[in-house]
Amino acid sequence: MMNIAIFASGSGSNFQAICDAVQNGELEANISLLVCDKPNAKVVERANDAGIPAFVFSPGNFSSKEEYESAICEQLLKYGVQFIVLAGYMRLIGSYLLSKFAGKIVNIHPSLLPSFPGKDAVGQAIEAQVKVTGITIHYVDEGMDTGPIIAQKAIDLFDGDTREDIESRIHQAEHEFYPKTLQKIFQRVTHDNS
Ligand code: GRF
Repeated sequence: MMNIAIFASGSGSNFQAICDAVQNGELEANISLLVCDKPNAKVVERANDAGIPAFVFSPGNFSSKEEYESAICEQLLKYGVQFIVLAGYMRLIGSYLLSKFAGKIVNIHPSLLPSFPGKDAVGQAIEAQVKVTGITIHYVDEGMDTGPIIAQKAIDLFDGDTREDIESRIHQAEHEFYPKTLQKIFQRVTHDNS
């Protein structure tokens, strides 16, 4: 069973969806650790409720990205983490973590990359007046939402949609699609290693 850490900074609805999928057997993985850079984030509460250990840190207490990433790494080693799942983690992963977990970090982004990378992908889609946006699951590299794409799902936009309508449709799709795709990724990785 794949030992994973989830990195998140906010509400953690994707964290929750992944926990639920593990709970009901849809996703064969062990969530060993939550890593969170925002001490007051709701996701920390969710981890406590689920009985999942959390490493919560304030980047401002460290002198550099390398320093806090090395503190994260210590925890990842302690918990035997093999794979990192980003779910609303609002920081770029630095070269320190990338070198230790090469090819073993994935992210979910609320657009059809390479369109609308970075912050507020939904706002960017609204501004561009596109009729289709979506979600992308991709490997993480040093860029902002630039790594190799693993899977995508399109979501239609309709006239009269509010931002809330679009965000809720995207979230709903993410909650189904992320656990399913992770299951496929972990099966592939386990198969390749056996
Ligand atoms: C999601 O829309 C995800 O695509 C993006 O950040 C959001 C996180 O939402 N990377 P939540 O914290 O999981 O509710």
